[in-house]
Amino acid sequence: MSTKHTRLVVVGGGVIGLSCAWRAAADGFAVTLVDAAPASGASWVAGGMLAPVTEAWPGEEALLELGVASVALWPEYAARLGEAAGQPAGLRTEGTVVAATGSGDRAELDALAAHLGRIGRPVERLGGRELRRLEPAIGPEVRGGLSVPDDLAVDNRMLLAALRAAAEKAGVTFVARNAVAVTGTTVTCDDGEEIAADAVLVAAGARSAALHPALDGLVRPVKGEILRLAHRPGAFPAPVRTVRALVDGRPVYAVPRDGGGLVVGATQADVGFDTEPTVGGVRDLLRDVERVLPGVAEFALLEVAAGLRPGSPDNLPLIGGLGPDGPLVATGHHRNGILLAPVTVEAVLALLRGAQVPPVARVADPARPTARSTGRRETAR
Ligand code: GLY
Repeated sequence: MSTKHTRLVVVGGGVIGLSCAWRAAADGFAVTLVDAAPASGASWVAGGMLAPVTEAWPGEEALLELGVASVALWPEYAARLGEAAGQPAGLRTEGTVVAATGSGDRAELDALAAHLGRIGRPVERLGGRELRRLEPAIGPEVRGGLSVPDDLAVDNRMLLAALRAAAEKAGVTFVARNAVAVTGTTVTCDDGEEIAADAVLVAAGARSAALHPALDGLVRPVKGEILRLAHRPGAFPAPVRTVRALVDGRPVYAVPRDGGGLVVGATQADVGFDTEPTVGGVRDLLRDVERVLPGVAEFALLEVAAGLRPGSPDNLPLIGGLGPDGPLVATGHHRNGILLAPVTVEAVLALLRGAQVPPVARVADPARPTARSTGRRETAR
């Protein structure tokens, strides 16, 4: 597709939609982004982990490879975005550590480390004392863990602000309405208006399935509750690295923010379009993060929120065309929307130009047999 004057309508203003809109507009497409409230959904609630290795799961090697390819693109992507936006993208390069408390948790981390070693991605195992030397905020209940310096993080709200600024500067037109249906060449808005296009990209996260019959059953909401904490004078300093932990089998993570803040996440539940945080979810997150980082007891609790990850049957995203005449889609990124933004943009730009998607992204073809499941989708992690 020649880009000059080609009208692209992007449905959805989260990290994927904004990223694709920005880069397509910078490439010469005439881009309209349809979203009643851009930058307000799962991308706003997110913790911002860019952590393909520490979130790896046996059986999901294709997702790991896709994530590793994308995290490698992040430094250049963030620099380019910062330059285009005139404001920082919020990338943090201090790396990630994983912490285990009980013997079952340590066994699980050992199994993960062994699995990563077998597939050629060895990680460094550390004892409790070594972990505390790296991150003094880690408490005495932690008996061991892993260091993964290449798993990064980003301040998702700085990122969204930068993406919006870059998209505006590149000439993206924002339409503050929600889409209710799409075809390959039209987007119908909730006020009945139809927007004509040469190409349509569905990047509407958990709400994508309602937009086109071919997405029905392929994308579902997966609720995640998250907390935002702020350091208070006198409190023990927050870690500088992302800390992912297992506490009696329950996963919890704490992602640092400038100024000593932490984003603590996240629960995971298949409960439909429910964005109400629960007492039990908040209690579990606070209890577990305090066992790993005891100093957080003195932090301020600023925010409690829940977002809807766009889950897919096999936890891989859907990036490609829905048949010869259907829209393009970039959705179903589940726990990895922010991580996978750079590689998704590369794939979408290739599709818009009529070129081949990068080989690593071919696993995300929406035409793959998505009915296969890893059996993990109902499990919190
Ligand atoms: N990637 C972290 C989460 O989805 O909770």
